[in-house]
Amino acid sequence: METYYSANLANWNERATLHATDTTGSYRIAAVLSGGSSLHALETSEVGDISGKDVVHLQCHIGLDTLSLKHLGAASVTGLDFSHEAISAARDFAGRAGTEARFVQASLYDAPAALGQAYDLVFVTWGALNWLPDIRAWAKVVAAVLRPGGRLYLLEGHPQMNQYEMRDGRLELAYDWRTPEADPLVFDETQTYTGDERPLVNTRNYEWIHPVSDVVGGLIGAGMRIDFLREHEIVVWHAFPGMVEVGEDQFALPEGSPRIPLSYSIGATRLD
Ligand SMILES: C[S@@+](CC[C@H](N)C(=O)[O-])C[C@H]1O[C@@H](n2cnc3c(N)ncnc32)[C@H](O)[C@@H]1O
Repeated sequence: METYYSANLANWNERATLHATDTTGSYRIAAVLSGGSSLHALETSEVGDISGKDVVHLQCHIGLDTLSLKHLGAASVTGLDFSHEAISAARDFAGRAGTEARFVQASLYDAPAALGQAYDLVFVTWGALNWLPDIRAWAKVVAAVLRPGGRLYLLEGHPQMNQYEMRDGRLELAYDWRTPEADPLVFDETQTYTGDERPLVNTRNYEWIHPVSDVVGGLIGAGMRIDFLREHEIVVWHAFPGMVEVGEDQFALPEGSPRIPLSYSIGATRLD
């Protein structure tokens, strides 16, 4: 597992540096630095009441959504990520925005000890779970960092979408619906997903597809109640060539393509 972890860490450290100096607009840096929000319309409408809540943002990347949650009324915000470049950029953004926030560098699986406190809301969005080999262990981490009665808000790319590749203008089923922990999918990408043309040196990354039932089952097994489970026909990145923009940074499959779910969201509450 160490190989996967260190390759993904090198890849994410490099992406964090590129994203922190993003000029494509993907990360909405200017909005956050002026006290606004980088959240998309979907998560803003679904996250629920955050005012006065202590929020932890797991796999917070360069911290822009973390700071946004504070700007939207959270009492306190903490971001956690394993990439030291991401955490360093997040702290820099917090300073420049003048926003109080705590950023912790740790592996997701070490979060309970690294954070050392419990929260009212765990926030996890867009491209987090696919980097984690063990989804049941992830669910236990979520429950462990919540106070009893605390909530999870999760919004992710749909595993069904992640099974497909676009080949010759058609969606083709390319990957199994569940990736074994010890046998991840292997990708080599020479550029990051924002449209930034600067090349990546650490191209190799390892990913896992987790079925929705494993995520839901993991959360229930960790002592969480599922409050809602929704599937959506939009995603916030250009997942396939030919996708059409149907809202600000929201993309859908083109007319004529069979519909599949592109993202899903879960609200869950820690029971005791
Ligand atoms: C696509 S980004 C998540 C984006 C996030 N929604 C945001 O607010 O920008 C994925 C993040 O997961 C982090 N990550 C990947 N594997 C991790 C692990 N094992 N432990 C902690 N963070 C990890 C990466 O460093 C990266 O910042």
